[in-house]
Amino acid sequence: MNLVEASHISKTFMGTKVLDDVSLSISRGDRIALMGPNGAGKTTLVRAMLGFYHLDSGTMRVLKHDPIKERVEVLRHISFIPQLPPPVKLSIEELLTYVSKSAGLQKQNVIDEAGRMDLDLTKHISKPFYKLSGGMKQKLLIAIALSKKSDLLIFDEPTANLDPKGREQFYTLLQEIPETCSTLFITHRLDEIKALVNRMIYMDLGKVVEDEKV
Ligand SMILES: Nc1ncnc2c1ncn2[C@@H]1O[C@H](COP(=O)(O)OP(=O)(O)O)[C@@H](O)[C@H]1O
Ligand SMILES: [Mg+2]
Repeated sequence: MNLVEASHISKTFMGTKVLDDVSLSISRGDRIALMGPNGAGKTTLVRAMLGFYHLDSGTMRVLKHDPIKERVEVLRHISFIPQLPPPVKLSIEELLTYVSKSAGLQKQNVIDEAGRMDLDLTKHISKPFYKLSGGMKQKLLIAIALSKKSDLLIFDEPTANLDPKGREQFYTLLQEIPETCSTLFITHRLDEIKALVNRMIYMDLGKVVEDEKV
């Protein structure tokens, strides 16, 4: 069974076709770099996998589930690290409690993963999430995603907020993602990601214009 099966999906925002008849499947073992110019529709495509949008036409399935009608089930299988961290008011402590309950992961596991990117969560435990720096937020979201052991991990321009050292630590962690977990990176930095992917997809003007195994 494919992890993701998008079949002829289209989505229009304010008169502009942002996804234009996109068909795409993602199988287990795929490690994808999703590339293309700003505005190509990359983020919209992954947000459609997560049930953010009602589509104009076509069908989206994640492990046969409808991302809108069965969102909870879909989110059990996919972890998504957004391009811009959400404005979460919870403290780190509360956030860790929330994710440990909702996603069934261990707080200590998240603290350990963050520590490996030089982020000491215990030092910031009562701080609200939104008061962390951009790079710290990104590291925390990455630590949560890596602790969740999902079937598919999606990163939307994950290193945009990280300094060179943070980027290096992030790529080191990625090498340990188990084979059973598929990954999709939206990125402009193919050089950084090349060694970690086996498939490259290019989008432009809402269409998939290239999809090759590498
Ligand atoms: N929620 C939204 N409402 C209106 N327009 C949107 C929305 N999300 C994205 N868009 C527009 O859709 C186009 C594609 O956006 P996006 O998928 O974010 O592109 P990419 O991630 O490839 O840079 C852009 O022109 C963007 O302005
Ligand atoms: Mg984007």
